[in-house]
Amino acid sequence: MKPRRPRLPSPGCWIPLGALSLVGVVSLLATSGTIATPSPVEAPRPNPHRDDPWVLPAGEPAMPAGDEAGPVRRHCALCHSHDYITTQPRLGRAGWAASVEKMRAKYGAPIPTNDVPALVNYLVKHHGKE
Ligand code: HEC
Repeated sequence: MKPRRPRLPSPGCWIPLGALSLVGVVSLLATSGTIATPSPVEAPRPNPHRDDPWVLPAGEPAMPAGDEAGPVRRHCALCHSHDYITTQPRLGRAGWAASVEKMRAKYGAPIPTNDVPALVNYLVKHHGKE
């Protein structure tokens, strides 16, 4: 009679056994402090610029400032800079009138109609082509 070989557990048994021992090792490491525990959330650092004054860039706008520029400052700089206008092509009176109307009608610029002539005059004078 041949001696019987000891029977190994079927392969299906090894997987849960392996998983179990992995859990054991991980919990051992965690309790022994080898696995770093997450550090507490850092307190926000103070902003070193918090009390800096607001300084706008120096420099004269391309079109003259002063009282005459008031309507352009008031009504156009709401959405884009005074200088942005001078990066655009020079226009004649009809062109500027149409441009101001476009800002009002298409882009919703809140420009009262009685300020339109002063705006157009200023634009024609300082960035026109008459
Ligand atoms: C409510 C916002 C708003 C106001 C106020 C405004 N614009 Fe504009 N403007 C725009 C927008 C939006 C554009 C398009 C920008 C783009 O295409 O990148 C534009 C573009 C322009 C252009 C470029 C040409 C074109 O037609 O796109 C000119 C010139 C211009 N604006 C002049 C003026 C002038 C002059 C005034 C004042 C009378 C004015 N804008 C006021 C919003 C405004």
